[in-house]
Amino acid sequence: MAVLKIVKYPEKVLETPTEEVTKFDDELKKLVADMFETMYAAPGVGLAAPQVGVSKRVFVMDCSGGKDPAQKIAMINPRVVMKEGEQTGEEGCLSFPGIYFLVMRAMRAVVRAQDVDGKEFEVDGMELTARCMLHEKDHLDGVLFIERTSPLKREMVKRRIRKLIKAGDW
Ligand code: NI
Repeated sequence: MAVLKIVKYPEKVLETPTEEVTKFDDELKKLVADMFETMYAAPGVGLAAPQVGVSKRVFVMDCSGGKDPAQKIAMINPRVVMKEGEQTGEEGCLSFPGIYFLVMRAMRAVVRAQDVDGKEFEVDGMELTARCMLHEKDHLDGVLFIERTSPLKREMVKRRIRKLIKAGDW
């Protein structure tokens, strides 16, 4: 396993819709293992393939931060089959280090996906689990969390990042 380099905004791969996974081979298993390693090292609770420069429909998550093996989940070709309710909470993203703001998401989400062997499964998640699945699923469509806030807030965040880049602190 290896810790991969995390791609930061505004790299293009982050805003490019990803490709469906069709081969459930050793290369995919290695990618998933490396993504878990990278997520735990960051540390973070979710990581999508484009964030390590791979434009494929793959994300990993663990809302327990490594404490509960049942929450260590890799989702391949996920699709949201149901959403309900609302929650507003602070969100961050490993491609936006140090940047957090309030994002409204569904309170509950049911996501169907394939595992590394291609077997279908479903996660019915509430609160942080729902937020995490929806944030990571967005990444696979090339949608970043700055798109889930107001235009004003988005411009403030972008301006802050431009300043950080200019100062060499990004
Ligand atoms: Ni993210």
